[in-house]
Amino acid sequence: MRRYVWDWVVRLCHLAFIGGCVSAYVTYQMSKMDWHAWSGYVVLGALAVRLVWGLIGSPNARFADFVKGPGAVWAYVSRWKNQPAPTGHNPLGGYAVLALLAALAVQTVTGLFSDDEVATAGPLRGWVSDEMAHTLTHIHRLSFNALLALVALHLTAIAAYAVIKRVNLVGPMITGWTKARD
Ligand code: HEM
Repeated sequence: MRRYVWDWVVRLCHLAFIGGCVSAYVTYQMSKMDWHAWSGYVVLGALAVRLVWGLIGSPNARFADFVKGPGAVWAYVSRWKNQPAPTGHNPLGGYAVLALLAALAVQTVTGLFSDDEVATAGPLRGWVSDEMAHTLTHIHRLSFNALLALVALHLTAIAAYAVIKRVNLVGPMITGWTKARD
Protein backbone atom coordinates (compact mmCIF):
# COMPACT_ATOMS: atom_id res chain seq x y z
CA MET A 1 0.00 0.00 0.00
CA ARG A 2 1.23 3.54 -0.78
CA ARG A 3 1.15 6.52 1.58
CA TYR A 4 1.46 10.22 0.82
CA VAL A 5 4.31 11.31 3.09
CA TRP A 6 5.75 14.68 1.92
CA ASP A 7 3.42 17.39 0.64
CA TRP A 8 4.48 19.66 -2.25
CA VAL A 9 5.54 22.55 0.03
CA VAL A 10 8.04 20.32 1.89
CA ARG A 11 9.35 18.96 -1.44
CA LEU A 12 9.59 22.38 -3.09
CA CYS A 13 11.42 23.84 -0.08
CA HIS A 14 13.83 20.90 -0.08
CA LEU A 15 14.53 21.42 -3.79
CA ALA A 16 15.15 25.13 -3.11
CA PHE A 17 17.56 24.23 -0.27
CA ILE A 18 19.61 21.96 -2.53
CA GLY A 19 19.48 24.27 -5.59
CA GLY A 20 20.14 27.42 -3.55
CA CYS A 21 23.08 25.92 -1.62
CA VAL A 22 24.73 24.42 -4.71
CA SER A 23 24.22 27.65 -6.65
CA ALA A 24 25.54 29.80 -3.75
CA TYR A 25 28.68 27.67 -3.62
CA VAL A 26 29.29 27.64 -7.40
CA THR A 27 28.62 31.35 -7.88
CA TYR A 28 30.92 32.18 -4.94
CA GLN A 29 33.70 30.14 -6.57
CA MET A 30 33.08 32.04 -9.84
CA SER A 31 33.09 35.41 -7.99
CA LYS A 32 29.55 36.10 -9.28
CA MET A 33 28.50 37.74 -6.04
CA ASP A 34 25.15 39.08 -7.32
CA TRP A 35 24.14 35.52 -8.12
CA HIS A 36 25.57 34.32 -4.82
CA ALA A 37 23.30 36.76 -2.98
CA TRP A 38 20.25 35.73 -5.03
CA SER A 39 20.96 32.06 -4.28
CA GLY A 40 20.99 32.97 -0.59
CA TYR A 41 17.64 34.79 -0.91
CA VAL A 42 16.12 31.65 -2.47
CA VAL A 43 17.30 29.58 0.51
CA LEU A 44 16.12 32.23 2.99
CA GLY A 45 12.68 32.44 1.33
CA ALA A 46 12.31 28.65 1.33
CA LEU A 47 13.39 28.57 4.97
CA ALA A 48 10.74 31.14 5.96
CA VAL A 49 8.06 29.14 4.13
CA ARG A 50 9.26 25.87 5.71
CA LEU A 51 9.20 27.36 9.22
CA VAL A 52 5.61 28.58 8.80
CA TRP A 53 4.70 25.23 7.20
CA GLY A 54 6.14 23.50 10.26
CA LEU A 55 3.30 25.11 12.22
CA ILE A 56 0.37 24.90 9.79
CA GLY A 57 1.36 22.28 7.18
CA SER A 58 0.32 18.67 6.71
CA PRO A 59 0.89 16.35 9.72
CA ASN A 60 4.29 14.94 8.60
CA ALA A 61 5.58 18.48 7.96
CA ARG A 62 4.72 19.80 11.44
CA PHE A 63 7.41 20.28 14.09
CA ALA A 64 4.93 19.15 16.74
CA ASP A 65 4.57 15.88 14.82
CA PHE A 66 8.25 14.99 14.49
CA VAL A 67 10.14 16.68 17.35
CA LYS A 68 9.99 14.06 20.11
CA GLY A 69 11.52 13.79 23.60
CA PRO A 70 14.80 12.01 24.44
CA GLY A 71 12.92 8.85 25.52
CA ALA A 72 11.41 8.41 22.05
CA VAL A 73 14.82 9.05 20.44
CA TRP A 74 16.46 6.41 22.62
CA ALA A 75 13.64 3.89 22.03
CA TYR A 76 14.08 4.35 18.28
CA VAL A 77 17.88 4.32 18.19
CA SER A 78 18.29 1.33 20.52
CA ARG A 79 16.05 -0.83 18.30
CA TRP A 80 17.02 0.81 14.98
CA LYS A 81 17.71 -2.39 13.04
CA ASN A 82 14.73 -4.36 14.27
CA GLN A 83 11.81 -2.06 13.65
CA PRO A 84 10.32 -0.53 10.50
CA ALA A 85 11.36 3.05 9.67
CA PRO A 86 8.39 5.36 10.42
CA THR A 87 6.60 6.94 7.47
CA GLY A 88 7.56 10.57 8.32
CA HIS A 89 10.73 11.75 10.09
CA ASN A 90 12.01 9.33 12.72
CA PRO A 91 12.63 10.69 16.27
CA LEU A 92 16.40 11.14 15.69
CA GLY A 93 15.90 12.45 12.14
CA GLY A 94 13.59 15.13 13.58
CA TYR A 95 16.58 16.65 15.37
CA ALA A 96 18.69 16.37 12.20
CA VAL A 97 16.01 18.41 10.42
CA LEU A 98 16.14 21.09 13.14
CA ALA A 99 19.96 21.17 12.91
CA LEU A 100 19.85 21.53 9.11
CA LEU A 101 17.25 24.30 9.27
CA ALA A 102 19.23 26.11 12.00
CA ALA A 103 22.45 25.85 9.95
CA LEU A 104 20.64 27.24 6.90
CA ALA A 105 19.29 30.11 9.04
CA VAL A 106 22.73 31.02 10.41
CA GLN A 107 24.25 30.81 6.91
CA THR A 108 21.65 32.99 5.20
CA VAL A 109 21.04 35.56 7.96
CA THR A 110 24.77 36.23 8.51
CA GLY A 111 25.09 36.67 4.74
CA LEU A 112 22.69 39.62 4.88
CA PHE A 113 25.18 41.50 7.09
CA SER A 114 28.43 40.25 5.53
CA ASP A 115 31.06 42.48 3.95
CA ASP A 116 34.13 41.27 2.05
CA GLU A 117 35.63 44.76 2.44
CA VAL A 118 36.40 44.76 -1.30
CA ALA A 119 33.35 44.88 -3.50
CA THR A 120 30.41 43.04 -1.96
CA ALA A 121 28.26 43.66 1.09
CA GLY A 122 24.95 42.14 2.16
CA PRO A 123 21.81 44.31 1.91
CA LEU A 124 21.65 44.85 5.70
CA ARG A 125 25.37 45.62 6.15
CA GLY A 126 24.55 49.26 6.96
CA TRP A 127 22.49 48.22 10.01
CA VAL A 128 25.54 47.04 12.01
CA SER A 129 28.92 48.42 13.11
CA ASP A 130 32.16 47.55 11.28
CA GLU A 131 33.17 45.25 14.11
CA MET A 132 29.83 43.40 14.08
CA ALA A 133 29.94 43.08 10.27
CA HIS A 134 33.43 41.61 10.58
CA THR A 135 32.25 39.04 13.15
CA LEU A 136 29.15 38.09 11.12
CA THR A 137 31.26 37.71 7.95
CA HIS A 138 33.58 35.39 9.87
CA ILE A 139 30.59 33.32 11.07
CA HIS A 140 29.21 33.28 7.49
CA ARG A 141 32.49 31.69 6.30
CA LEU A 142 32.82 29.24 9.22
CA SER A 143 29.19 28.12 9.28
CA PHE A 144 29.46 26.98 5.69
CA ASN A 145 31.75 24.18 6.94
CA ALA A 146 29.22 23.26 9.63
CA LEU A 147 26.48 23.15 6.97
CA LEU A 148 28.67 20.93 4.75
CA ALA A 149 29.30 18.54 7.67
CA LEU A 150 25.56 18.31 8.40
CA VAL A 151 24.73 17.69 4.73
CA ALA A 152 27.39 14.94 4.64
CA LEU A 153 25.80 13.36 7.73
CA HIS A 154 22.35 13.76 6.12
CA LEU A 155 23.45 11.93 2.96
CA THR A 156 25.23 9.23 5.01
CA ALA A 157 22.04 8.56 7.00
CA ILE A 158 20.00 8.32 3.77
CA ALA A 159 22.58 5.89 2.32
CA ALA A 160 22.49 3.82 5.56
CA TYR A 161 18.71 3.47 5.28
CA ALA A 162 19.09 2.35 1.65
CA VAL A 163 21.90 -0.15 2.26
CA ILE A 164 21.15 -1.55 5.74
CA LYS A 165 17.38 -1.23 6.06
CA ARG A 166 16.62 -1.36 2.31
CA VAL A 167 14.41 1.75 2.62
CA ASN A 168 14.33 4.26 -0.23
CA LEU A 169 13.98 7.74 1.30
CA VAL A 170 14.96 9.69 -1.82
CA GLY A 171 12.01 8.63 -4.02
CA PRO A 172 9.39 9.96 -1.57
CA MET A 173 11.21 13.33 -1.32
CA ILE A 174 10.75 13.60 -5.12
CA THR A 175 7.25 12.16 -5.65
CA GLY A 176 5.67 12.62 -2.19
CA TRP A 177 4.70 8.91 -2.00
CA THR A 178 6.20 6.05 -0.03
CA LYS A 179 5.47 2.37 0.57
CA ALA A 180 3.65 1.70 3.87
CA ARG A 181 6.06 0.03 6.29
CA ASP A 182 4.10 -0.08 9.55
C1 HEM B 1 22.25 21.42 0.54
C2 HEM B 1 21.87 20.18 0.66
C3 HEM B 1 20.71 19.70 1.49
C4 HEM B 1 20.06 20.31 2.53
C5 HEM B 1 20.36 21.66 3.16
C6 HEM B 1 18.99 19.41 2.94
C7 HEM B 1 18.09 19.67 3.95
C8 HEM B 1 17.04 18.84 4.30
C9 HEM B 1 16.03 19.16 5.26
C10 HEM B 1 15.94 20.46 6.05
C11 HEM B 1 15.19 18.10 5.32
C12 HEM B 1 13.91 17.99 6.14
C13 HEM B 1 12.74 18.09 5.18
C14 HEM B 1 11.58 18.76 5.83
O1 HEM B 1 10.97 18.21 6.75
O2 HEM B 1 11.29 19.89 5.40
C15 HEM B 1 15.66 17.09 4.42
C16 HEM B 1 15.07 15.85 4.23
C17 HEM B 1 15.48 14.94 3.28
N1 HEM B 1 16.50 15.11 2.38
FE1 HEM B 1 17.77 16.68 2.28
N2 HEM B 1 19.02 18.28 2.16
C18 HEM B 1 20.06 18.43 1.26
C19 HEM B 1 20.44 17.55 0.28
C20 HEM B 1 19.81 16.36 0.01
C21 HEM B 1 20.15 15.47 -1.08
C22 HEM B 1 21.27 15.71 -2.12
C23 HEM B 1 19.31 14.41 -1.01
C24 HEM B 1 19.21 13.19 -1.90
C25 HEM B 1 20.16 12.32 -2.01
C26 HEM B 1 18.43 14.63 0.12
C27 HEM B 1 17.44 13.79 0.50
C28 HEM B 1 16.57 13.99 1.56
C29 HEM B 1 15.57 13.06 2.00
C30 HEM B 1 15.30 11.69 1.38
C31 HEM B 1 14.90 13.63 3.08
C32 HEM B 1 13.78 12.99 3.93
C33 HEM B 1 14.43 12.22 5.03
C34 HEM B 1 13.39 11.48 5.84
O3 HEM B 1 12.70 10.63 5.26
O4 HEM B 1 13.26 11.78 7.02
N3 HEM B 1 18.76 15.82 0.71
N4 HEM B 1 16.79 17.57 3.80
